[in-house]
Amino acid sequence: MNPYEPRPASVKEVIVETPTIRTFVLEPKPPLSFRAGQFVELSVPGVGEAPFTPSSSPYEQKTIEFTIMKVGRVTSKLFAVRPGDTLAVRGPYGVPYALGSYEDRHILILGGGVGLAPLRSLFLALLHNVNAYKHIHLYYGARMPKEIVYDRLFKQWRTLKNVEIRRSVDVGDKTWKEQVGVVTVLLDKLPFKPKEGLAVVCGPPLMMKFSTQRLLELGFADEDIYLSMEKNMSCGFGKCGHCRLGELFCCKDGPVITWDKIKHLEDPFV
Ligand SMILES: Cc1cc2nc3c(=O)[nH]c(=O)nc-3n(C[C@H](O)[C@H](O)[C@H](O)COP(=O)(O)OP(=O)(O)OC[C@H]3O[C@@H](n4cnc5c(N)ncnc54)[C@H](O)[C@@H]3O)c2cc1C
Ligand code: FES
Repeated sequence: MNPYEPRPASVKEVIVETPTIRTFVLEPKPPLSFRAGQFVELSVPGVGEAPFTPSSSPYEQKTIEFTIMKVGRVTSKLFAVRPGDTLAVRGPYGVPYALGSYEDRHILILGGGVGLAPLRSLFLALLHNVNAYKHIHLYYGARMPKEIVYDRLFKQWRTLKNVEIRRSVDVGDKTWKEQVGVVTVLLDKLPFKPKEGLAVVCGPPLMMKFSTQRLLELGFADEDIYLSMEKNMSCGFGKCGHCRLGELFCCKDGPVITWDKIKHLEDPFV
């Protein structure tokens, strides 16, 4: 099907993750295939559309999931949809992760807040071929325990072979037994040599900026730091220019871009 043409997607389920984040399970007709790293434009009929990266496994054919934070016009309307309603999706757009080149390396996935959503589809894609990688390290930070996404899934993820999980919150409470501090505290005492791994980061702009600084200090190579650059987007396929990042277009050259390609820009994270 033409990737520029929206297709109807019925809402199968809405899962409340946190007070401001929900996962929407959609069934597009015909089904929409994507590869980890790509995004789609999701529209609420009569309201508008916005870009989102699927949070489900690219190997799931029938349904597609999006984990979305309520921040403005489109996302507020999305929070009013119920199972049985119909939305629309077009895409996929953007460049997928080159997973073949990750083989035999340590993969560090570093997420902050709702930034874990796009990384979940990468994580699930890696699990599909888990023995191909040295080890998968899923590190996640949120502001407080009640803002953790996928708390319902972490228990099972911790039992997986070849996977290490670390979590932190900026501010803990009586129930919190894991690390306390900004997400970069999770990078202390890394269990592998940075030269043997790569890092994929997604989160709010400040989290991305400080995480990149820390990864560089630790010795990760510029081209081994993958950043999910969520710039303003409109068309999604390189025509409108809304998503310019220096000489790159986030929609067609990204949205995941390695640090070596943007480090010359004054502040790529604003
Ligand atoms: C490739 C790509 C993938 C994305 N994937 C996801 C995803 O998986 N889950 C998800 O929740 N979001 C994701 N986003 C962000 C999402 O597109 C925006 O949150 C959405 O466009 C906001 O639309 P809106 O109409 O609700 O807000 P608007 O009405 O456009 O904005 C309202 C206000 O919210 C602010 N705002 C906009 N976006 C954000 C944000 N992300 N965080 C905080 N404040 C914001 C704006 O600056 C503005 O002040 C992604 C963005 C891109 C480019
Ligand atoms: S969103 Fe239109 S050029 Fe990138």
